Amino acid sequence: MAKRSGFTEADVSDQSGKCFIVTGANTGIGFEVSRVLAARGARVLLACRNQAKAETAMAAIRRKAPGADLSFLPLDQADLASVRTAAEAAAREPRIDALINNAGVMTPPLTRTRQGFELQFGVNHLGTFALTSLLLPKLAQTQGSRVVVTSSIAHRGAKIDWDDLNAEVNYSRMRRYSASKLANALFFLELDRRLRADGSPVTAVGCHPGMAATELGRYMGPAQLLLPLARLLLNTAAMGAWPALQAATAPVAPGGYYGPIGFREVRGVSGAASRSADARNPETARRLWDASVAMTGIDPGLRPA
Ligand SMILES: NC(=O)c1ccc[n+]([C@@H]2O[C@H](COP(=O)([O-])OP(=O)(O)OC[C@H]3O[C@@H](n4cnc5c(N)ncnc54)[C@H](OP(=O)(O)O)[C@@H]3O)[C@@H](O)[C@H]2O)c1
Repeated sequence: MAKRSGFTEADVSDQSGKCFIVTGANTGIGFEVSRVLAARGARVLLACRNQAKAETAMAAIRRKAPGADLSFLPLDQADLASVRTAAEAAAREPRIDALINNAGVMTPPLTRTRQGFELQFGVNHLGTFALTSLLLPKLAQTQGSRVVVTSSIAHRGAKIDWDDLNAEVNYSRMRRYSASKLANALFFLELDRRLRADGSPVTAVGCHPGMAATELGRYMGPAQLLLPLARLLLNTAAMGAWPALQAATAPVAPGGYYGPIGFREVRGVSGAASRSADARNPETARRLWDASVAMTGIDPGLRPA
C-alpha cells in the first residue's frame, strides 16, 4: 500500500545554521522536537524550568545525535520575571529562526503562578504570550522566522470564561485546560494577522499533536493506569512532534494549523488540521489579545489588523 502523504520527521530538511527555541523541551513532545532539530544540524535552546531535567534531556539527545549543538535556557512560564530573563538571554543569540511554544500543563489542582494567574491559563497561554511578545524584536531580525504555538484537540467546544478569566469564582480542571488551548489557537491567529498587517518578516502558525503518550497526564490520578493500554491507540511522543516540526521547518501557510491527519486527527502523519469556529473568531482573538496585554503588562506593540 502506498504511504499516505503527510509530514513525518523524515521530511525535516537540513537545519544547519539555524537556531530554535523549544519550550518544555526536557520531556514528551518538546524533547522529540529538540532531538530531531538537533540531529538535522540546528542549534537548539532547551527552554525548561528544571536544569537537572534539561541536562538529562541534552545528554539523551547527544547519545542519539553526537555533536548536537544544545543549550539550556532557564524558563519558568509560571513566573513573568523568569520569562523576561529567558527572553533577554535568548536575544543574545546571533539569530533565532523559530520559537516553538510547547510547554504546557494539564488539569492540575487549582494553583496560581508567581503573579497570581490560574496556572493553566497562566502557563499555557499568558506565559506563551509573554515569551513570544518579548522575543518578537529578535525574531524579526531573521527573515522567514516563525512563532509556533501548540494547541490541542481539547480546544474544540471550549469557551473563554470572560466573567472569570482568572478562576476566582470557579475552577474546573478540564474546562480550564481546554480554554487555555483555545487561547493558544486564538493567540497565533491574532498574532499572525497583526504581523501581516505590520509587514513583519515573522510568521505565526499553530499545531497540535493529536493525542500522544507523554507525561501530560501526570495529574490524572488513577486514570494513568490506563496509559499502557492507551499507548496502543495514541501517537508516540515522537509522532506527536511531527506537527510542530512541520510548523517550524516546512513551507507553511501564515496563520496555518498543523496536526495529525489520521482518524479524527488523533494520530498519524502531519498535515493541515482543523479548528473550531470559536478558534477562528477574530473578535474573540482580539479581545483575548487585549486581555493578555492587560494581565501581563507586556504589549508586543503590534496594531490590530
Ligand atoms: N500529549 C498530548 O496528547 C497532547 C495533546 C494536545 C496538546 N498537547 C500539548 O503539547 C504540549 C507538550 O505536552 P506533552 O504532551 O509533551 O506534555 P509533558 O510530557 O507533560 O511535557 C510538558 C513540558 O512542559 C513543561 N512545563 C510545564 N510547566 C512549565 C512551566 N511553568 N514553565 C516551563 N515549562 C513548563 C514541562 O516541564 P517539567 O517536566 O519540568 O514539568 C515539560 O517539559 C503541551 O502544550 C500540551 O498542552 C499534548
